[in-house]
Amino acid sequence: LSSAGAWGTHAHPRSRSGHLSVSPRPTLLDRRLLLFTGKGGVGKTTCVAALALEAARMGRRPLIVELGHRASMEGVFGVPEITYAPREVGKGVWAMNLDFESALEEYFIEHIPVKRVARTIMRNKTLQKFFHAAPSVAEVAILNKISALEAEREGMRPRWDPIFVDLDATGHAIMLLNLPSVMRGLIGDGPLRRMVDGFSSLLKDPRKTLLSLVTLPRELPAQETVELYQRLHKQRDVELGLLFVNQVPERPLSPNQAGWLDRVGQRASEVGMTTLVDDIALARRAMRQHSNARAQISRMRKDIAMPLVELPMLFNASLSLAGLAELGQDLVGKIEQVDK
Ligand SMILES: Nc1ncnc2c1ncn2[C@@H]1O[C@H](COP(=O)(O)OP(=O)(O)O)[C@@H](O)[C@H]1O
Ligand SMILES: [Mg+2]
Repeated sequence: LSSAGAWGTHAHPRSRSGHLSVSPRPTLLDRRLLLFTGKGGVGKTTCVAALALEAARMGRRPLIVELGHRASMEGVFGVPEITYAPREVGKGVWAMNLDFESALEEYFIEHIPVKRVARTIMRNKTLQKFFHAAPSVAEVAILNKISALEAEREGMRPRWDPIFVDLDATGHAIMLLNLPSVMRGLIGDGPLRRMVDGFSSLLKDPRKTLLSLVTLPRELPAQETVELYQRLHKQRDVELGLLFVNQVPERPLSPNQAGWLDRVGQRASEVGMTTLVDDIALARRAMRQHSNARAQISRMRKDIAMPLVELPMLFNASLSLAGLAELGQDLVGKIEQVDK
């Protein structure tokens, strides 16, 4: 694993004082492109929103990129519509929806000098079917847009700092990241080759791009994350960032209190206090859940060579925008602590 280099000392390009400073541990947010993946429902949207809010609070201009027609950020930020054109969604965070059709249209307009011809090609039904069916076309168009977003400048500064990409399904992530390697074997020299090499150098540069994983401390997601890690580690298409373990339950009782539980439980059933017996069963269940979560976390620590960051189980109020901003601040603090 080459992560040691990626997490080593480097100069922070833009400290808050405006001077060049050396931070001993570069945090995730120092990268240009932060990719996230993991199974549906594990908390990618939550993590990305929290980290983007913190980046904005630090004076950056983060852009959240969602792929496909999903716009889960609409719900999080309470905005009516997130489209292909980036818009500010609140508290200094920007978001866009990178849908394949818009990316392809932009790609054609860029590469076919006559705009009208490009549009005609795009709108042709047969060609559209072909583009949807042809492997890699979507990935090329999407990577083309991501590279373009990374390259956008305002004066000397990057326009987006950093860019969060929610790769949603893990299959999608693998296809996208694998594309440069796959294409390299298929295409000769030429403009397409140069473009694919461009994506590859962006994705493979550990100072610019990191792929983080999000998971839950439960058996099935943990198992799938170990398998995904093994695959990503072997393919080496991208530097691996952090492993976010979401919804980690707090320890419900101290070992001492757990000891009372047995004694109180015995007494309660002796005297027939059924509500107390039920409460004790609930407490036991919470304790089992907690110890299962700890076991899954230990196992992932053992099998996955990525710094692991835990996110607590939250209640509704903490999932509001203000709550997420707090979570982001917390997370960045934890990320700075993780020792490689
Ligand atoms: N730490 C947490 N505690 C409690 N609920 C959470 C937590 N993280 C996420 N959720 C909730 O779980 C659901 C799925 O989270 P989300 O971030 O949308 O996952 P994903 O983007 O991976 O599908 C959402 O309803 C979200 O509010
Ligand atoms: Mg999501």
